[in-house]
Amino acid sequence: MNIDLDNITAYCTQHSDSEDELLKEVARQTHLKTLKPRMLSGHLQGTFLSMITQLIKPTYILEIGTFTGYSALCLAKGLTENGKLITLDNNPETSVIAKDFFTKSLYKNYIEFISGDATQVISTLPYTFDLVFIDADKKNYALYYDLVFDKLKSGGLIIADNVLWSGKVLDLATNNDKDTLSMQAFNEKVVKDTRVEKVMLPLRDGVTLIRKK
Ligand SMILES: C[S@@+](CC[C@H](N)C(=O)[O-])C[C@H]1O[C@@H](n2cnc3c(N)ncnc32)[C@H](O)[C@@H]1O
Repeated sequence: MNIDLDNITAYCTQHSDSEDELLKEVARQTHLKTLKPRMLSGHLQGTFLSMITQLIKPTYILEIGTFTGYSALCLAKGLTENGKLITLDNNPETSVIAKDFFTKSLYKNYIEFISGDATQVISTLPYTFDLVFIDADKKNYALYYDLVFDKLKSGGLIIADNVLWSGKVLDLATNNDKDTLSMQAFNEKVVKDTRVEKVMLPLRDGVTLIRKK
């Protein structure tokens, strides 16, 4: 049987929790106002992130790559009462949209947005994180992994997005651009790292769950 991936995704989405009204509006505004709306995590992956965070009940979450705030709002759902989500982005135009939605959300007092280059900001953060979501520029994934590793508690989770990079990592002979090579190098680094347990999932553009031992 040959089932189309789009149909599988649609079926999975239909049989998962529905998107709340605020997230629907984030998705709508992202499509109306940004040049690359496909960067948004979206309904199915967002629901997955919400499930993971509600299982972990993190106190401190770090998100690298806010965009318009969709995944931050999904991840914030699992925060403990004294918890905090720090989210970083260096694009002021899309960050305006994110900050507006954070203010409108139930989590407005739990989300701290920091504007800046994540390669510079991460080392200044005075927290030990329970959960880190890596979803920014692909060339720096391996650097972000190194920068957050000592700030992640033992048993903590890193979620890395876009690890399949539209499937390009499977065929480096055809796809040898910088982002694809960086993502492939990141995937090799993670799979060889004996300090962590990991599972790569074919969800949307590929998601790896990485648990620090
Ligand atoms: C794929 S989008 C994030 C999507 C978002 N997590 C979501 O699911 O809705 C990647 C974001 O990373 C940001 N970014 C890229 N390089 C960055 C850097 N060096 N420091 C901070 N943010 C960066 C971009 O501005 C962009 O908004």
